[in-house]
Amino acid sequence: MSKSSTHIIVNGASGRMGTRILALALDDPSISIDGATTRGTSPRIGTSIATRDARSIVMTTLENASFQGDSARVVIDFSSDDGAMAAARFACTHRAALLVGTTAMSARTIDALTQASSSIAVMVAPNTSTGVAVIADAVMRVAKALGPAYECSIVEAHHSAKKDAPSGTAKRLANAARAGGAAVRDDQVLAMRGGDVIGEHTVRFAGPGEYVELTHRATSRDLFARGALRCAAWLSTRAPGWYTMEDMLLSQ
Ligand SMILES: NC(=O)c1ccc[n+]([C@@H]2O[C@H](COP(=O)([O-])OP(=O)(O)OC[C@H]3O[C@@H](n4cnc5c(N)ncnc54)[C@H](OP(=O)(O)O)[C@@H]3O)[C@@H](O)[C@H]2O)c1
Repeated sequence: MSKSSTHIIVNGASGRMGTRILALALDDPSISIDGATTRGTSPRIGTSIATRDARSIVMTTLENASFQGDSARVVIDFSSDDGAMAAARFACTHRAALLVGTTAMSARTIDALTQASSSIAVMVAPNTSTGVAVIADAVMRVAKALGPAYECSIVEAHHSAKKDAPSGTAKRLANAARAGGAAVRDDQVLAMRGGDVIGEHTVRFAGPGEYVELTHRATSRDLFARGALRCAAWLSTRAPGWYTMEDMLLSQ
C-alpha cells in the first residue's frame, strides 16, 4: 500500500451501504481498508469479508478495530444513531476524520458530532451523491429567481426498508429552497415507501400558469458509495472542523 493511502474504517460494514463502500474500496489502490465494523450482536462478526495484500479483512466491532497508518485516517459511518455516536467517540480517540452518512440522527448524536468537530474533521452527509449536491444548489437559485409567488413542494420515494421519512435529502432540499426565500411548509415535504427504489426526489415550484420541477433519481447504490469514498479521501487530510459536501465540491 502506498504511503499516500487513505486509511478507512467502515462502521455499519454489514449493511447495504457498508457492503458497497467496501466493495468499491477493495478495487481502489489508493485506499487501505483498516477495519470493517458492525454491531456486536451481528452474526457477521468474525467473518472474513475479503483478503487484500495477503491480509484477511475480518468483520469486528469498533472496540476491536484499529488503524494501520498514522495519517489520512477516516472513519466512514453508515449505520444507525447509536452507531454514529460510537463512531464519533472512536474517531476522536484515534485522531481520525469522521464521515457520517447515517441519516435521522438524534439531537444528542448531532451534538456529540458537533463537539467532536473541535478536535477532528467531521462531515455529515445525508446524501453523498454529487448530483444531489448540485441539485440542492440549483434549488436554492431557482427559489430565489422565481420568488414567493411560486409554492414549493418536495416528493421523495425510497425502498420499503428505509427507516426515516421524509428522507434526510428531502429535508436538505427543503432547506435549500428556504435558503432561496421559498416558504416550504413541513406538510409539503412528502414521502412514499415501497419496492426497491434507491432514491428519487422531485422539487416542484408551482406558480401562476406554470410549474417548474427539478428531479434527481439514483439508479445505483454505488453512486452514494463512490461519493462517500470521495468525501472520505478529501476529509482525511482536513484540519479539525465541521465540513459539508458543498465545502468539498467548492474546493476542487
Ligand atoms: N448518505 C447517503 O448518501 C446515504 C445513502 C443511503 C443510505 N444512507 C443512510 O445510511 C444508513 C445505513 O443505510 P443502509 O441502507 O446501509 O442500512 P442497513 O442495510 O440497515 O445497514 C446498517 C448497518 O449498520 C449496522 N449497525 C446498526 N447499528 C450499529 C451500531 N450501533 N454499530 C455498528 N453497526 C451498526 C447494522 O447492523 P445490523 O444488521 O446488525 O442491524 C447494519 O449492518 C441509514 O441511516 C441510511 O438512511 C445514507
